[in-house]
Amino acid sequence: MDKKSLYDRLGGYDGLAVFVNDLLPRLQGDDQLGRFWQNRGDDGVAREKQLLIDYLCSVTGGPVYYTGRDMKTTHIGMKISDNDWSIFLQHAGATMEALQVPKQECDEVVAFVLTLKNDIVEP
Ligand code: HEM
Repeated sequence: MDKKSLYDRLGGYDGLAVFVNDLLPRLQGDDQLGRFWQNRGDDGVAREKQLLIDYLCSVTGGPVYYTGRDMKTTHIGMKISDNDWSIFLQHAGATMEALQVPKQECDEVVAFVLTLKNDIVEP
């Protein structure tokens, strides 16, 4: 079957950049999650945003080499709770709804993100 990569179906690099540009302000502006971005400089936030775009391009099958850290190393010690994780998923859902990402692609994104939970949420 000649199925296009998830990367292509999400609109390639530009589509994923739009996705991240919509999602990050939702996370940063959230009452509970905002604490993770408090007191961080603009350049650090911009760098992280670029790494998230690169990461998503790379894991969805795009022609991008991700140069950031793995998910466990990146998030360890942040004390991200189960409840933080649920709120994150709600924002990701809201972004996909706002961008009218089709159901099939939404399901694939969510399924992938769920595989990361054990690396990101503190036990
Ligand atoms: C509740 C959920 C999450 C929170 C609160 C969170 C928070 C953060 C914060 C504060 C940073 C900056 C770390 C730093 O600059 O040292 C970061 C980096 C990053 N996060 Fe998350 N994150 C979450 C979930 C995710 C998920 C689901 C993904 C992947 C789809 C992800 C991918 C990344 C990437 C790629 C980086 C940059 C890695 C690097 O600096 O090398 N995060 N995250």
